[in-house]
Amino acid sequence: MIKKGIILAGGKGTRMSPLTKAVNKQLLPIYDKPLIFYPLSILMLANIKDILIIVNKGQLHQYKKIIPDGKNLGIKISYLEQDKPRGLPDAFVIGKKFIGKENVAMILGDNFFYGQNLTSKLIKNTRLKKGARVVLHKVTKPDLFGVAKINKNNKIISIKEKPKKFLSDLAITGLYFFDNNVVKFAEKLKPSKRGEVEIVDLLNIYRLKKQLTADLIGRGGAWLDTGSIEDFYKTSAFVSAIENRQGFKIACLEEVSLNKKWISKKEIKKSIKFYGNCEYSSYLRKLIN
Ligand code: TTP
Repeated sequence: MIKKGIILAGGKGTRMSPLTKAVNKQLLPIYDKPLIFYPLSILMLANIKDILIIVNKGQLHQYKKIIPDGKNLGIKISYLEQDKPRGLPDAFVIGKKFIGKENVAMILGDNFFYGQNLTSKLIKNTRLKKGARVVLHKVTKPDLFGVAKINKNNKIISIKEKPKKFLSDLAITGLYFFDNNVVKFAEKLKPSKRGEVEIVDLLNIYRLKKQLTADLIGRGGAWLDTGSIEDFYKTSAFVSAIENRQGFKIACLEEVSLNKKWISKKEIKKSIKFYGNCEYSSYLRKLIN
């Protein structure tokens, strides 16, 4: 069972400037809560309770204001800083001590997942013992993403970043499960032409060892990556539509914890006090009444 997870929540957020000049992208709102709540809820749904959040140098205090240490959620949150965006695999170099001898999951701070059977799928992936697994989702414009071609056993046979010629319409999302070798492999990577270590290079190491598998989110599930302003508004509209029609919230962290019995009413009351008089608190109040 994978028990540890990393959220990579630094980055320049260039595409969203000027919004991201003073505030990190992951702290901006997707409808009624900060973006970071969504990937955090995904790790929690996967029963991962020991979570490292990697943030930009100098932004730690902002994150701690909203997610101090995880106590009210019945989980353990720790933080480390990345001094500059050196690329996604840098997470495993920064997180080396946190990972220790264990396997680890990683989710990008700006990735949004939602859908039926998601929780059971996530939990199944945490049973990974050897190799690496990526989560794939079908897209209409594969040339904008890193894509993967799979065989009938869900083994990945090739991957390519933003392919000009059609290879596959399965995009590689920002959710990955790795065995402990990931630290060693990430440390070996050399920066690409754009000056970053590349996730595709890391995944290719596993692929060449025939240890890279895929899990597919089917048509009942949604994956949105919130890199641009347009994506932010689209994702917000999606969350608003579901929450207002059905009356439950997506990525209410306290609700996930309560359902998993990691916390009791007492912690929820503390959270209500912490958030203050707001709609999110009213929702929490309804959960315990
Ligand atoms: P990107 O979308 O590649 O980068 P970004 O968020 O900085 O945005 P832009 O391209 O507009 O400049 O990053 C994906 C996610 O990973 C995002 O949540 C930021 C995070 N990230 C880091 O924390 N450290 C890194 O070194 C990189 C490359 C990304």
